[in-house]
Amino acid sequence: MAASVTLTAGALALADVAGAPGVGDPYFPASGNGGYNALHYDVVLKYTPKTQTVAATVTMTARAGHPLRTFNLDFRGPRVTSVTVDGIRAAHTRDAGELVITPAVPLARGEEFTTVVSYTGTPTSIQHGTLGTYGWIKTREGAIVLAEPDGASTWLPVNDHPSDKATYDFTITVPKHLKALANGEPLAPSLEGNWATFRWRQPVAMASYLASVAIGKWEMTHGKVGDITVITAVDPKFKKSLTQVHRRTMRALRWGRTTFGPYPFRTSGAIVDDPRLDYALETQDRPIYGGFVPSEDFVVHELAHQWFGNSVTVRRWKDIWLNEGFATYAEWMYREHRSKKDSAAKTFRSYYRQPAKAPIFQTPPGAPGREQMFGFPVYVRGAMTLHVLRQRVGDAKFRTILKTWAAERQGGHGTTEQFVALSERVSGKKLDKLFQVWLYKKGKPKRGSW
Ligand code: TRP
Ligand code: ZN
Repeated sequence: MAASVTLTAGALALADVAGAPGVGDPYFPASGNGGYNALHYDVVLKYTPKTQTVAATVTMTARAGHPLRTFNLDFRGPRVTSVTVDGIRAAHTRDAGELVITPAVPLARGEEFTTVVSYTGTPTSIQHGTLGTYGWIKTREGAIVLAEPDGASTWLPVNDHPSDKATYDFTITVPKHLKALANGEPLAPSLEGNWATFRWRQPVAMASYLASVAIGKWEMTHGKVGDITVITAVDPKFKKSLTQVHRRTMRALRWGRTTFGPYPFRTSGAIVDDPRLDYALETQDRPIYGGFVPSEDFVVHELAHQWFGNSVTVRRWKDIWLNEGFATYAEWMYREHRSKKDSAAKTFRSYYRQPAKAPIFQTPPGAPGREQMFGFPVYVRGAMTLHVLRQRVGDAKFRTILKTWAAERQGGHGTTEQFVALSERVSGKKLDKLFQVWLYKKGKPKRGSW
């Protein structure tokens, strides 16, 4: 930078830009990074269960949004052994969850560049009071990744924010008695000595919190729903339930396609692993169920996320009800579809009957705050919001709203404001009060107030 005295003041300012350490999401200020957009990640990882170590090389292809002297990746993983940018060794330092990279040659605006990070050691999960255990998680035989909301950086050097989606390739090597699953479509595996290598391709842009590997001893089955390949894998402990989980997934998928419109990906399925986490994650294509055989409700919930959350993704975490409220309402709709006696209206009433002091009414789902972002109100009161919308606009318009949301924003992003605008456009009704009361007002919405 000392050599820049000959540049004009303006050019100096531009040549000297450091990429911001976060994208400015108030819930997760350190998540994501400024100055570039990730396009693709190529993840090559070898896992040794005995020592629980990974040896990995991750190549990120990205485009600079402005000139960059330094830029960051989010990374909380083990020891970094080398970093290159466009093939040249780059200086790097670590600062909390940030990997700060200084390329030998500053990046120009609009330039596509390639960063290769190699690292080795044992990744660890994040333990958080309200958000639970997430990130890279050790299992009896291997490991799984459940990374929502900001756990991708426990195992990947990544631009870890849902506003920056990218495609992925995975090449995972494990001892040959194990198998490695990941998002997307399987490519041919290979064997070398005592090691097996599994390849997976995610050709549809994916948020980093959905990127996942699952290493274990899998009992597997395959099937087709239309041209969607359905792959179901369970830990041997759940062997007896393999067919049941697979059938539930196929049935929910068929229903999802008619209810929400075309399935946004090419593969689907389910992974049931053994650690008793008691939660599931909608990992793109194939949800992971953490230690239990999922009920119909659970399967429908995680599959609904493929449309709502995975294909149409939040731009900021505050809008998380667009994921969880929608996936919960999908459960209510599916139950109604299976038995008219179980109508969504009945489910709504059973919750609405709860007293004003009940937990579901305490947090406004449209602005839950970081600690409550996966709280009951985001799920249940979020779903109730969709039910009052349905009551106001009628069944047909409501279904058009859901399908249009999934279709118009397929593979992209959506905000609450955009959903409200779409609902008004499709229904021709003014709905600001309804959403205001149900999403943002504290306390139990009073009948007649929306
Ligand atoms: N999105 C998950 C669901 O409701 C819940 C969840 C939140 C989660 N944070 C997580 C799951 C962390 C696994 C890890 O389907
Ligand atoms: Zn969910």
